[in-house]
Amino acid sequence: MIDIGTGDGLFVYQCARQNPKKFYIGVDASPRPLEKISEKIHRNPAKGGLPNAVFIQAALEDLPSELDGVADEVHIHFPWGSLLRAVAAGDENLLRNLRRLCSTDGFLEVVIGLDAERDRTEIERLGLKPLSLEYIDTELARRYRAAGFEIFERGMLAKSEWRCIKTAWAKRLRGSAGRELIYIVARATAPGQFPVASQR
Ligand SMILES: C[S@@+](CC[C@H](N)C(=O)[O-])C[C@H]1O[C@@H](n2cnc3c(N)ncnc32)[C@H](O)[C@@H]1O
Repeated sequence: MIDIGTGDGLFVYQCARQNPKKFYIGVDASPRPLEKISEKIHRNPAKGGLPNAVFIQAALEDLPSELDGVADEVHIHFPWGSLLRAVAAGDENLLRNLRRLCSTDGFLEVVIGLDAERDRTEIERLGLKPLSLEYIDTELARRYRAAGFEIFERGMLAKSEWRCIKTAWAKRLRGSAGRELIYIVARATAPGQFPVASQR
């Protein structure tokens, strides 16, 4: 499993502890949040060390080719910046970088938490359209398809469901009243099942 924009790596760490037979990779463009958790996984297992997790500093724009095709699951929680643009505006080149990570039966799960007022500056900077379910079903589904993903589930999470998301930002934003939580789940389609992306 690969978690892109993993931040402090809490999600990867907890999953890796619960499923010792699976391998977990956390990726983030920024080195700072990765420092503590990278040190922790290399400790003695009795002191929190984990042999089935690794953290990599890399941006979605420039992922190491060693990760191609290795992921049964790719997760993205509370993206911002270009990672947010990739999944919320459907940037085809960046979505293709996500697709490259997926194995044949791989899937992508995205959780986006935006507040139209508080995040206005970032929403405008990235040129994002309001993230309604209708927008996902029409425009975003088409862009995901062109990049090799078929969206098969999407929806909004109720406040009570925030608890199910075990990340630092889920905890941090839980109390924020105006923030809507939207999720998208897409399966990777086989090469040839999707058209070549249009040049933009
Ligand atoms: C709001 S934090 C969410 C962190 C974590 N997923 C969570 O839920 O606690 C967004 C993270 O995405 C990372 N990020 C932003 N753009 C990225 C990109 N292009 N490639 C990889 N990581 C990126 C940031 O460095 C940041 O750590």
